Amino acid sequence: MTIAIASDHGGYELKQQIIKFLEENKVSYADLGTYSTESVDYPDIAIPCAEAVARGEYEKGIIICGTGIGVCIAANKVKGIRAALCHDTFSARMSRMHNNANILTMGGRVIGPGLATAIVKEWLAADFEGARHERRLNKISEYENSV
Ligand code: RB5
Repeated sequence: MTIAIASDHGGYELKQQIIKFLEENKVSYADLGTYSTESVDYPDIAIPCAEAVARGEYEKGIIICGTGIGVCIAANKVKGIRAALCHDTFSARMSRMHNNANILTMGGRVIGPGLATAIVKEWLAADFEGARHERRLNKISEYENSV
């Protein structure tokens, strides 16, 4: 499993902390940028990362901006993407178990590295439960495919 990770300038510092966590835990990852705190527009970061996940190049993605909101909105415009903004471990776990989220977004200006790494740990460990949740996700896919 290889994880794509990306951020804008507002999420850059937290991205580097998450990368450190992934390396320490031997999780394979690809850093899709940004590579400094120089200002960039979050859609330019979130959309290519989401597209790479949607194409199946990466199993999951983690995208970080200042609040986690902008990148979540942008990523969810990509067909097949279920991006979840999570700032607590319960939501992170549920976003996998019930929503089969394939992208996790967080805000580097909202939470610190301790909580963020705990969220990533829960999110990577949790599996989709399927069953009734699959039926609900199918309704979203059906809508997505109809427009
Ligand atoms: C950039 O200043 C900031 O707007 C961005 O990181 C993010 O928070 C947008 O949702």
